[in-house]
This record gives sequence, C-alpha cells and structure tokens, in this order.
Amino acid sequence: MSMDLHDAVTVVTGGGSGIGRASAHAFARRGARVVVTDLEAERAHTVAGELGGRGVAARCDVTDLDDLRAVRDLVLDRFGRVDVVMNNVGILAVGPVEDIPLDAWQRVIDVNLLSVVRSNLVFLPLLLGQGSGHVVNTASTAGLLPYGFDRLPYTATKHAVVGLSESLALYLRPRGIGVSCLCPAGVATNIVEQITFYGEPAAPQGPAFPVVDADSVGELVADGISEGRFLILTAPEAADELRELGADVDLYLSRLTKDAG
Ligand SMILES: NC(=O)c1ccc[n+]([C@@H]2O[C@H](COP(=O)([O-])OP(=O)(O)OC[C@H]3O[C@@H](n4cnc5c(N)ncnc54)[C@H](O)[C@@H]3O)[C@@H](O)[C@H]2O)c1
Repeated sequence: MSMDLHDAVTVVTGGGSGIGRASAHAFARRGARVVVTDLEAERAHTVAGELGGRGVAARCDVTDLDDLRAVRDLVLDRFGRVDVVMNNVGILAVGPVEDIPLDAWQRVIDVNLLSVVRSNLVFLPLLLGQGSGHVVNTASTAGLLPYGFDRLPYTATKHAVVGLSESLALYLRPRGIGVSCLCPAGVATNIVEQITFYGEPAAPQGPAFPVVDADSVGELVADGISEGRFLILTAPEAADELRELGADVDLYLSRLTKDAG
C-alpha cells in the first residue's frame, strides 16, 4: 500500500532527536507537513523550526493519553486530516534480568508498548474514517532476534511491537491503511540518554550489525512508506539472521550460547 508523502500530514513521536528527527526531515524533504512531537518541548520546537515552514511542534508524552489526544486535535485543527503516524519513542532498562526491578519493567512497557496502544486508540479511528493513511511503529532488530538478553524489557516490548504491527497490517491493509515496522540495528543517536543501567554490565552476545547515521534511517523510513513496505531494516544482514532463526530456533540459540561460552 504505497503513499505519496507530498502534501501528506505526518505526526512523529519522539521527533526531537535521532531517528524521529531524521524521519521528520525526510518527510519534509518530500513535501510533507510534519507535526514534530516530543517529551522535551524545546527539542520539538527546534526540529519543527528546522523544517522550513513544514513543521509544527507539540510537547507530547506518549505515556499520557490526553497528550496524544491534544496532538490529534492540533493536527485536525491545522490540517483537517492525518496521513502518517510514526510511533517512535523507545527507552531501555539494561542489566542482568535479576537486577532489573519490576517498576523498570512497567516503565519500559508503558513507554515502548502501551504508547503504541494509546496512539492506535487516538489515531486509528481517524485513519479508518478516512479509509487511508499509514502507521509506522519503531521496533528494533532486538524485536526480531533474541540477542538482547541484557535488556530484556526492551527485547520483550520490541518483540511485542513487531507482533502487534504484523497483525495490525493484516487488519488495516484491507481497510486502505498501510503499516510499516522499522527495525533498526545500531543508529548513531542520543539513545544512551534513554537508558537506565542496573547491576553489572554483561558482555555482548549475538550478531554485531553495522551502525548507521540517523539521516540514512530517515530516508529509509520515507522510502518504506512511499513503497508501502512493512519491514524496514537498517542492516540487511538482520534478514539473514532472521532466516537462520526461523529455520531452526534451537540450533540458533545453541550457536549463540556456544559462541558466548
Ligand atoms: N539508536 C539505535 O541504535 C536504535 C536501534 C534500534 C531501535 N531504536 C529505536 O528508535 C527509536 C528512537 O530512538 P533514537 O535512537 O532516535 O533515540 P533518541 O534518544 O535520539 O530520541 C528519542 C526521543 O524520544 C523522546 N522521548 C523519550 N521519552 C519520551 C516520552 N515518554 N514521550 C515522548 N517523547 C519521549 C526523547 O526526548 C528523544 O527526543 C526508539 O524506539 C529506539 O528504541 C534505536
């Protein structure tokens, strides 16, 4: 389900930095209007200001349903419709699983998973009413593959975002609405600000994918929407890993634990 970004009305959460900012720029370069939202109002305003008249800023905490409703109202007031919603915020709790407390799990689930649920509640009625639009959910290669054992709340919620997005695509496509799931590997951003560390750091385990710059990811997202592609990867190697995992999960896990031992 392809979508022309020219004159499209787009909303990006966590748009004040990194992948969200780069996507906002890529959308604006293709002629879209971009409502840049972020927990940090100043960042949202800075990025919206960078978009040469195509940007509008709003402070929005994705853990607050009323904030998302206010963004919807702002967008409808300004533009009368919404074409693209990019749910992009993610945080991490990193450390040995036995050291990550329950409230850290709850926070990560609230920000990474329930934010998408809230966004769906607020924006999907609009898109369904229009019979058109596109939803982009930012997951991670950690949502496709099992390597994130030192960040289990992240891994669990990103797997949930992938599963939710796949099923959502089956529901929305027949209704004229596209869905993409962005699964980046390493991207040079400010993501370290979103990490809370617990316990002793663990050694990395699993595939090491190349780190790419955020601007190239913004372009990939814009291409993915334009071409109606579901899975957007920043490291094509992740697709090979996914095939290996799918071919034999037991063998794949044995290989990873053997490599680590
Ligand atoms: N950078 C990577 O290597 C990488 C890899 C895979 C997936 N991702 C995913 O990409 C997404 C974007 O991350 P990034 O790397 O651009 O990070 P970033 O830290 O550069 O940007 C995240 C933005 O989200 C905002 N934010 C944080 N909590 C928020 C909240 N509750 N409500 C609204 N905004 C909030 C921050 O203020 C910040 O501007 C995340 O979902 C992350 O999990 C990143």
